[in-house]
Amino acid sequence: MELKMFRKFIVANLVLIGLLLFISNVGASDNSCIDCHKTLSPFIEVQKQFNQIRIQHLEKSVSCSLECHEDRVQQLATANYLQWSESTHALNDVTCEICHGGNPAQPAKEMAHAGIKKSTDTESPVYYTNVPETCGNCHSKELDNFDNSMHYKKLKDLKLAPTCTTCHAPHTFEVLNPVEFRNFCGNCHSVYKKVAPYDIPLDAEYLLVKVNKLKFNIDTANQDIFWAEKEGVDVTQAKKHVNDALERMNALAPMWHEFNLTHFEAEVDYANSLALKAREMVEPSPTPTQTEPPRTPGFAGLYGIVSLLAVLLIKRNQEHK
Ligand code: HEC
Ligand code: HEC
Ligand code: HEC
Ligand code: HEC
Ligand code: HEC
Repeated sequence: MELKMFRKFIVANLVLIGLLLFISNVGASDNSCIDCHKTLSPFIEVQKQFNQIRIQHLEKSVSCSLECHEDRVQQLATANYLQWSESTHALNDVTCEICHGGNPAQPAKEMAHAGIKKSTDTESPVYYTNVPETCGNCHSKELDNFDNSMHYKKLKDLKLAPTCTTCHAPHTFEVLNPVEFRNFCGNCHSVYKKVAPYDIPLDAEYLLVKVNKLKFNIDTANQDIFWAEKEGVDVTQAKKHVNDALERMNALAPMWHEFNLTHFEAEVDYANSLALKAREMVEPSPTPTQTEPPRTPGFAGLYGIVSLLAVLLIKRNQEHK
């Protein structure tokens, strides 16, 4: 009975805490950019109609009306909010004004937008050649490496070259996986686009897969060390190697941004050799060979026994004649 009461008490408390958390999250931010952009919906009736008109225009190759364009900006503002809200940046409070400027303490649109420049304005912090410095305010290691790259040089020469947001799409700011990168680097590094080296897409995929293998080897080494330590093996040196490998692995992502694939591969290989060395050091000595369990006769065995009996039977019959 007492246990039941206690359970009820716990459940009631959990419900109360949940409710409090929920209430405290409603209308959570005091950031007007977020508050307002959250409410912009691309699906209101008027916009649906605009969209319909725009599609009809396009079908007849008629250029869009002014209203259509306004609608487009509004849609962008919404879509960007939605993408941002599910990003690592949203989790870390990297809010709109940090990249765009403006004043998030102002609730009215015009006041809040004061100072915001469009991404096509060369003065804007989100103009594509200014993007590295905007991101570099926080991602300084990536920027330091990117600064040394051919990509950065070409970008600043206003040539066809990727900026941070070419590879990490606004506003999801995701890191693509290796296979996606093969197609992605190929957008420029292909015979058609005439941006050498042409083997970059496959090399990039190969290297990023290699990084995944390194992660796996470090994990396995850590597991081996865990079990070896339980059995009383001295794992000090192995631990040192695996920690060194881990540190080097964590430095790989920023280093990637100098786009020197030879240097990158050498680092991956070195870290990998450390992880493998650690595994070798704690590898359990081969277990003594087990005595084979007694085997039940298989089909061949049975067949043999039956044949033997048959032969004996025939022989006996012959002897009796
Ligand atoms: C009261 C509502 C409201 C507030 C507050 C607000 N916005 Fe907007 N924002 C809009 C709307 C609506 C649009 C769509 C275009 C338009 O109507 O100007 C927009 C468009 C934008 C654009 C695209 C501008 C362009 O011309 O292409 C950016 C960037 C932007 N907002 C960033 C911000 C930032 C950063 C803040 C906070 C400092 C903010 N907004 C605050 C409503 C708001
Ligand atoms: C980490 C930086 C960053 C954050 C945070 C960010 N943006 Fe952006 N935003 C950009 C970049 C870079 C571009 C330019 C994209 C391009 O070149 O296609 C952009 C473009 C836009 C545009 C298109 C208009 C234009 O000027 O081209 C809108 C609208 C916009 N952002 C709204 C927002 C809103 C709303 C938020 C917050 C919910 C937000 N952004 C948060 C970096 C950011
Ligand atoms: C105000 C600081 C700040 C700015 C400015 C900023 N970021 Fe970030 N970014 C963060 C934080 C914090 C994280 C999450 C922790 C981490 O991975 O370092 C993050 C994470 C990321 C990630 C990893 C996402 C993931 O899912 O693993 C990428 C990619 C990224 N940012 C790209 C950018 C780009 C591109 C820009 C410029 C347009 C930018 N960031 C601007 C703070 C910032
Ligand atoms: C040509 C494509 C490309 C460009 C340009 C680029 N990145 Fe990356 N970025 C990548 C790839 C690929 C990875 C994953 C690397 C890895 O896992 O070793 C990555 C990883 C990241 C991460 C995640 C790091 C982590 O610890 O997981 C951040 C943050 C980031 N980039 C920020 C930036 C910033 C800031 C810029 C501009 C200064 C930039 N990137 C330019 C391709 C690019
Ligand atoms: C927007 C176009 C564009 C994209 C996308 C792009 N690159 Fe490049 N890349 C260039 C240009 C331009 C050069 C300079 C070519 C030259 O003139 O030598 C270059 C050069 C390079 C070089 C040679 C650097 C050197 O020092 O010789 C490497 C390596 C490289 N890119 C890797 C990558 C990888 C990996 C990706 C995909 C994650 C990628 N690039 C995506 C445009 C691009």
